[in-house]
Amino acid sequence: MSRIVYVNGSYVPTSEAYVHINDRGYQFADGVYEGVSVRGGKTIDLEPHLDRLWRSMTELDMSAPMGRAPMRLVLKEVIRRNRVADGFLYLQVTRGEAVRDHAFPEVSIPSFVVTCRRLSFDAVRARAAKGVAASTQPDIRWGRCDIKSTSLLPNILAKQAAREAGAFEAVLVDKDGFVTEGSSTNIWIVTKDGKLQTRTIEDNILAGITRARVKTIAEGLQMAVEEGRFTVEDAKDAQEMFFTSSTSCAMPIVELDGQKIGDGTPGPVAQRLIDAYFSYTDD
Ligand code: PDD
Repeated sequence: MSRIVYVNGSYVPTSEAYVHINDRGYQFADGVYEGVSVRGGKTIDLEPHLDRLWRSMTELDMSAPMGRAPMRLVLKEVIRRNRVADGFLYLQVTRGEAVRDHAFPEVSIPSFVVTCRRLSFDAVRARAAKGVAASTQPDIRWGRCDIKSTSLLPNILAKQAAREAGAFEAVLVDKDGFVTEGSSTNIWIVTKDGKLQTRTIEDNILAGITRARVKTIAEGLQMAVEEGRFTVEDAKDAQEMFFTSSTSCAMPIVELDGQKIGDGTPGPVAQRLIDAYFSYTDD
């Protein structure tokens, strides 16, 4: 079945969906995006995703392509037209088309694209049951990783390097040896004394929506959560390690740079969080 996408006011098959070559998203990666999971036909944390999208646009002085209410309708319609029960909804806003010039154009109409593809959460759970390997990579990104920008070259280079090292995700490490986040995920550890740790969002990382949801779930389960920095050595010494994102939910990392984390299998803390996370959807 051909996918139906939304592009600048029209619902069209993917093969007929185009944006202009002078679009600043294409020319400069002058754009922002969100990725929202859909489970059982329902979105997961749509409102926090929209909050973050609006924050990203505001930080870049980019106009919104439409209001939040019509945007919700477009998103619903894209899910409906593609008959997606379990999937991944992708929203991208760019500054739009303009003659190539680094400075912002005086006038431009933002481009807005929405796609939705199927994603098997059974496959995600099957992967989580085994856990994945991760590989450390230097964090060479810019100083505004709080903005969910489509400028992702350092992230894709890190992910590719991790894949070439036989790992599933890259764990990014700053100049001082502290873990920042994953190439497209937030990183967590469970310390030897059972505390959950993840880096603070003030610290040049993306404020992951799944990170916030998992934190709320963990606190509800009376687990101790501490936001703060930890090193690669702390991670290698941890009882458990996992990452969170909309597509991977909470994914155990059982090996870092070839070294086992804990006993090299997914631990009980991550497993409880995964079970609880999978029972959550928007109303
Ligand atoms: N990535 N950190 C980075 C750098 C990310 O790109 C992402 C999301 C996250 C997790 O955020 P959330 O829990 O809101 O999905 C953390 C998405 C999935 C992507 O780029 O496709």
